[in-house]
Amino acid sequence: MSRRILIVAVAALIAGGLVGLVTLQTKLFGSARSVSTGQALVGGPFALTGPGGKTVRDSDFRGKYMLIYFGFAQCPDICPAALQVISTALDQIGDKVKKVQPIFITLDPERDAPDVMAAYVSAFHPKMIGLTGTPETIAKAAKAYRVFYRKVPDPGSANAYTVDHSSIVYLMGPDGKFVTHFTHGTDPDVMAKRLKEVIKSRG
Ligand code: NI
Repeated sequence: MSRRILIVAVAALIAGGLVGLVTLQTKLFGSARSVSTGQALVGGPFALTGPGGKTVRDSDFRGKYMLIYFGFAQCPDICPAALQVISTALDQIGDKVKKVQPIFITLDPERDAPDVMAAYVSAFHPKMIGLTGTPETIAKAAKAYRVFYRKVPDPGSANAYTVDHSSIVYLMGPDGKFVTHFTHGTDPDVMAKRLKEVIKSRG
């Protein structure tokens, strides 16, 4: 339980930091400027490994919303809970689901090979794709999205480690830029409502 609390606390800190930065920029530059500057805070180009070992880039999804979550396939509870929320929310937005690409990026590339990721995400949603990479490409993507993670010893798991990580779902727009995020524990109904609103207002 304590690890879950730590993770949620870290996620809240990161989310709070984002809000803080946007607030600061609002003070410095005014609200119009802060919107464009704030969007640049989270996200960026990535080139990772998808199903069948194929290279998958963020730019492959231009024109669609990316719903991005970072975690790892052996995660006992945090990731399954978050991915289930995404899946349930996507099932509630009707036709708009065509505009959304759910993406699960591993923070444990050493254990999560492309086939492991493909099998894992298929348990959550048919549209979801799992991405892996090298420790370096994963670290770069995680840094761009301000994802905290670290390996910690866990004698009970395969290879004797687990991965603590922040748990935030990122919504990126059809232009690849940050739109909004959802903190851990967001209700699927709330996520679905927000997705519908954003897609309706922005197309
Ligand atoms: Ni997890």
